Amino acid sequence: MRRLMIGTGWKMNKTIRESLQYIELLLPLVSGVNNIDIFVLPSFTALQTVHGALLGSNVAFGAQNLFWEDAGAYTGEISPLMLVECGCRYAEMGHQERRRLFAETDETVGKKARAAWDHELVPIICIGEPERPDRLGDVEPLLRRQITSALELLSEAKVARSILAYEPAWAIGVGAEAAESGYVSRVHGLARAIVSERFGCEAAAGIRILYGGSVQIDNAPEFLGAPEVDGLFVGRAALDPLVFARIVHMGSEWARRNA
Ligand code: PGA
Repeated sequence: MRRLMIGTGWKMNKTIRESLQYIELLLPLVSGVNNIDIFVLPSFTALQTVHGALLGSNVAFGAQNLFWEDAGAYTGEISPLMLVECGCRYAEMGHQERRRLFAETDETVGKKARAAWDHELVPIICIGEPERPDRLGDVEPLLRRQITSALELLSEAKVARSILAYEPAWAIGVGAEAAESGYVSRVHGLARAIVSERFGCEAAAGIRILYGGSVQIDNAPEFLGAPEVDGLFVGRAALDPLVFARIVHMGSEWARRNA
């Protein structure tokens, strides 16, 4: 059975000092939670400090982006080696904001996923459509392209241990509304079927598919109970550590009841 994950990416929020304050508030609130995976994705500048603050805890962390080469003439980029040195376990790629504002493509997402695994960083690969579709069938070609490009440079065993985050752009951010849980289940089922077809059933059985997009305390239980949802990737609601801790506990409770 796939282990439930609850995570948050802080986007371009929180200085080093604020990141430390967050972790200091969060850890005592979630210290007893050991039946799910918990992660935070701070900004690059806070990674080293967050590493120190999380040592020995049940909360893992990672970066919101990475470059696909180890070193070289790539001004402004951060390599997987640098992330490993900071103690990261995860590296995110393909977020809608990066696709839209920073020209991230399916091809670069695939290179990043391979570079991450080359250094044993677990990729958290964001996929999802830019606009609300009329029918599920309308998103299939895009999902197929995103998933295939993201995973095609990986072995089946690595695909099985990777993470997809389904985050439709229309459900993300201020003013947006979360997707309906029934729709999310259907998209996740479709994504898993695509993985199975292309990469095999071991890959499809292992890969975890998180939902992200306007997740909050109120709608978290609905998504946790939705078939095919292996966890939640929370944005702005989780900028408050008390809210994130509540959602972590909801996930833990759900996993306990469904063990
Ligand atoms: P949101 O962001 O929860 O603020 O909508 C989700 C995300 O971008 O991961």
